[in-house]
Amino acid sequence: MFRVLIAYATDEGQTKKIAHFVRDTLEASGCESSLMELCADTAAPDFSAFDAVLVAGSIHVGRHQKFLEDFVSTNKHALSRMPAGFISVSLSAGSSHPVERSAADRYVAMFCERTGWQPDTTHCAAGAIRSAKTPFLRRLVVHAMVAKNGITLDPSGEAEFTDWDALHDFLEAFKLHLACADQSHIEAAE
Ligand SMILES: Cc1cc2nc3c(=O)[nH]c(=O)nc-3n(C[C@H](O)[C@H](O)[C@H](O)COP(=O)(O)O)c2cc1C
Repeated sequence: MFRVLIAYATDEGQTKKIAHFVRDTLEASGCESSLMELCADTAAPDFSAFDAVLVAGSIHVGRHQKFLEDFVSTNKHALSRMPAGFISVSLSAGSSHPVERSAADRYVAMFCERTGWQPDTTHCAAGAIRSAKTPFLRRLVVHAMVAKNGITLDPSGEAEFTDWDALHDFLEAFKLHLACADQSHIEAAE
């Protein structure tokens, strides 16, 4: 049974919802999963207690959380020694405009450049708009983004764009990657 750490950063809660989905999906297929919500002064976990790690975070004004970058930079050697994936949550990832969608890939590339970490596998997940949880000025920013993408919000101001099937497929591929890494490890030890 693989033990997977899911370390995530969230502002309005969508990455938290995604992290819980990841945990539930992995557990349903027999992996043991632990959630870790990161904040500015999160201490390094005991990576030796895990076989793999998934890191997730969201984009605000073109960048992942600074404390997520710091966590990954600080722990990049441990992360590089184990199978690891990265999930980046943004509105761009769900855009119907190819140019806007390519921004989601650029956010990931920038994250890797800033942290010096190269995950084995990455997934850009479309996020959500939670107007009720977003302070007024931040809400103006996100509503401008929504308008740029040609989306009309209903009066609740809430909308979820996450493609759960695509996330599920990513997790299937990640589990396969884990199994292959494990097999190579066994063969190397023989
Ligand atoms: C103030 C603000 C700025 C944002 N800026 C961007 C952005 O530059 N690019 C983008 O693709 N999405 C942007 N988003 C959308 C978020 O990435 C999306 O809402 C995501 O679901 C947030 O995840 P979280 O709830 O886990 O923090 C922004 C959202 C807010 C509230």
